[in-house]
Amino acid sequence: MTVPIGIHDISMATGQYAMDLAELARRNDVDVNKYYIGLGQTTQTVPAADEDIVTMAAAAAKQIVAKHGVDGIRTVLFATESGIDQSKSAAIYVQDLIGLSSATRAVELKQACYGGTSALQLAAGIVARDPEQRVLVIASDIAKYDVDSSGESTQGAAAVAMLISANPNLAVIDETVGLYTAHVQDFWRPNYRSTPLVDGGLSVRAYLEAVEQAWKDYESRGGRSVTEFAGFCYHQPFTKMAYKAHTRLLELKGIDATEARLYADLSPTTIYNRAIGNSYTASLFVGLMSLLDHAEDLDGRSVALFSYGSGCVAELFSLTMVDGYREHLRTVENRAAIAHREPITYEKYRALREFALPEDGSDVTLDATSRSPFRLTSISGHSRIYEASHAR
Ligand code: CAA
Repeated sequence: MTVPIGIHDISMATGQYAMDLAELARRNDVDVNKYYIGLGQTTQTVPAADEDIVTMAAAAAKQIVAKHGVDGIRTVLFATESGIDQSKSAAIYVQDLIGLSSATRAVELKQACYGGTSALQLAAGIVARDPEQRVLVIASDIAKYDVDSSGESTQGAAAVAMLISANPNLAVIDETVGLYTAHVQDFWRPNYRSTPLVDGGLSVRAYLEAVEQAWKDYESRGGRSVTEFAGFCYHQPFTKMAYKAHTRLLELKGIDATEARLYADLSPTTIYNRAIGNSYTASLFVGLMSLLDHAEDLDGRSVALFSYGSGCVAELFSLTMVDGYREHLRTVENRAAIAHREPITYEKYRALREFALPEDGSDVTLDATSRSPFRLTSISGHSRIYEASHAR
């Protein structure tokens, strides 16, 4: 008998500040409904200067190890688009900060926003080989575009940590998946840039093409039909993208994509992302957490997930919820992480954007502003120095 493998626990962290998109609308002199309604975004997380993908990742992962301990965790897979080093894996910093054993495999994975899904599937493979092991999967990103570019309205930041194990408390990862890869220059970030190059219109078209192709591959592998799913989670660069994607899928299957149908299928998945903004690798899983925290009981029901990473790689996969999963959710903590962000003006956001870590190798000490359990204290001798604040 094969043992069920899936998500045993899932937790999130986000950054210190939140900018209402009304602030950006004021700056850009556009109707705020372009952002609130046209993109489906209300606020975006803006990290403090002493926060980065590692501090958010460690803050999310700390919640998992506090509840489940570290026994059996021999692998940490860290997916990110906003890596802090060209060579050293961000997973090593997290392994150290949260006190995992040195007998750990700590690796970073990259494929734009898709990386978290690849980590999830690789983790399932590791657990299938040895069901005694548990794998910590982390997706952490700061989505940052050029200032005064159209991408600025789709920024955000968050980390999601997941414990992948046999006999999971939350959800079983189903085996059938649909895959799609195509060489497309819709969004990419050469090594010499801190922000991506993006062709917004092409990226939306490439995403929609990927929905169709991944679904067709999924069907050809004997996957479920659309009507068998109790929920649909899409990667959400902005929440309206999920509506565009689901419309494409329903039309492909000859189902009328009425407003009521779209709202019923998608609205619970968009509540957190509307407030956080894009979080690249984490975004799909923030959507999943939003669904689980807001949907009616999904015991025994299946949820379809569509992961898209520009460039592009896409995967359609599904989870089947374990009976009683709702007893293991972190709804209060998740809502608090979003609600406790400090509102900031456009001017404060711009000042944070203008502050940049040195690129010439010089040392810097950062003011302590983050309320996260972990912060970046300094750059010293070309190294990032982090601290855990037990008071936080
Ligand atoms: N009231 C209501 N709606 C309004 C409005 C108003 N007053 N004014 C405009 N709108 C609507 C527009 O009609 C449009 O809706 P539709 O797309 O449904 O027609 C929407 O608001 C956005 O308007 P624009 O297309 O004019 O917006 P823009 O030029 O500012 O560009 C964007 C939007 C392309 C998403 C841009 O923000 C961008 O490039 N973002 C980064 C790239 C991105 O997120 N791509 C998504 C797919 S790629 C991916 O998923 C990977 C990833 O994470 C990056």
